[in-house]
Amino acid sequence: MNIAIDGPAGAGKSTIAKRIARKMGSIYVDTGAMYRAMALFMIKNGILPEDAESIEKACENADISIAYQDGAQHVILNGEDVTECLRTEEVGNMASATSVNKKVRAKLVRAQQDLARKTSVVMDGRDIGTVVLPDADVKIYLTASVETRAERRYKELIEKGQEADLQAIANDIRDRDYRDMNREHSPLRQAEDAVLVDSSDMTIEEVVNRILEISDQRSFRKA
Ligand code: DC
Repeated sequence: MNIAIDGPAGAGKSTIAKRIARKMGSIYVDTGAMYRAMALFMIKNGILPEDAESIEKACENADISIAYQDGAQHVILNGEDVTECLRTEEVGNMASATSVNKKVRAKLVRAQQDLARKTSVVMDGRDIGTVVLPDADVKIYLTASVETRAERRYKELIEKGQEADLQAIANDIRDRDYRDMNREHSPLRQAEDAVLVDSSDMTIEEVVNRILEISDQRSFRKA
């Protein structure tokens, strides 16, 4: 069974998808991490976000794959495990810029589809239900208000002992939403057959249970 979870940045997709994958014995695929690895490759090669021509040329030389260690996803870029380098603001912003590129998307979508062909996956991203796995058994569009998402991110940073500005985080989220939803290729949108789950007033456990419930109903209908 393949489950597609799409939604804007900070909606809790990865936390939720990881738990669902564990409960269902599937593999969790974080496609954002693949776009981030591609972005890291561009940064390492000194390519600027607005230089589409160089991005297209360079992406042919980026070999991105996924490996699993004790159930955790590791992203391998040209033979090097780069998992620990992907969660910075610099890489996130570059990923947002490079992921608008058609050639970059075509390459990573192919890799994601290959993964889902081999095994049951819970895959999260922006275009999983619409482009990567249009025939997924379950499609979820997971969202939350900008305020809720900003507060969650703010708390996360404060707990890590980092400085954080709630208003700046909210503005950043709004900008990223706009870019992801309004780009020309594969913009973020809810697939017609996706179920909307708004996690603004839900706990992680409630969201997980809701999605498991939806998955149960779908497999019951299929059987
Ligand atoms: O989910 P994330 O923040 O790790 O994603 C990083 C960037 O990659 C984000 O700006 C949108 C892009 N992305 C995408 O375009 N398509 C996906 N399937 C996953 C992520």
